[in-house]
Amino acid sequence: MTNKYKYFVANWKMYGGLNTVNSLHRVIKFLKTFKKSKNIKIVYCPPSTLIRPMSKKLLNTTIQVGAQNCHESQNYGASTGYINSSMLKSVGAKYVILGHSENRQSGETDKLINLKIKSAINSGLKVIFCIGETLSQKKKKITKQILSKQIKSGLNKVKKRKNIIIAYEPVWSIGTGVIPKPDELFRTIDFIKKKVKNNKVLYGGSVNPKNIHQLKLINNINGFLVGGASQQSKKFIDIIKKTFI
Ligand code: PGA
Repeated sequence: MTNKYKYFVANWKMYGGLNTVNSLHRVIKFLKTFKKSKNIKIVYCPPSTLIRPMSKKLLNTTIQVGAQNCHESQNYGASTGYINSSMLKSVGAKYVILGHSENRQSGETDKLINLKIKSAINSGLKVIFCIGETLSQKKKKITKQILSKQIKSGLNKVKKRKNIIIAYEPVWSIGTGVIPKPDELFRTIDFIKKKVKNNKVLYGGSVNPKNIHQLKLINNINGFLVGGASQQSKKFIDIIKKTFI
């Protein structure tokens, strides 16, 4: 990978109780001795219930905390069960993942994601904006069209574009153990980079300590969004270490 920083974003999804926050001591300890620690940015995105305790745990470290979604309104309101971007900011979140395929699958449209991105940016959060094609779209060879549409709609009239990080996550790769072929992934990342110009582009989908040696060779990727393998500190540390070996 060519850029100055490499991102390692942990997406804990709907996993983790209060005590799991303690497991981060391993990562904190690791970073203290890791020679390349200046070249990495780690962002933990736990369930919203853990943002506050995690931020406290990570005080005085370089690791930052993010949320996994937010409501599209920046204001308080009658929306039972939802949390908005300014509320996330107020408890310590610096980032928010938006447009994740699991939320797209449960009904989030490009338009709604666009509103969420604007709200998050206005609240001062950085956005990890997920895009990716499904298996059937891939088979129909319409990946580029899908990605273009997701980018165009998602970033429509979004200001402060520098606060956006794109995460390319092919839906067929999430949680399946299957990753794209290296040349294919390189070309897709290149395609996305040409569309967004200055934004960093991460790869996500079944990243683990076994396949990282293959993924790290794709030199236009700026880092990784890690789901399942990020829930165990040892695996997450392994991924980081092996990226630099
Ligand atoms: P996975 O998830 O690493 O478990 O495939 C990635 C994600 O959903 O962000």
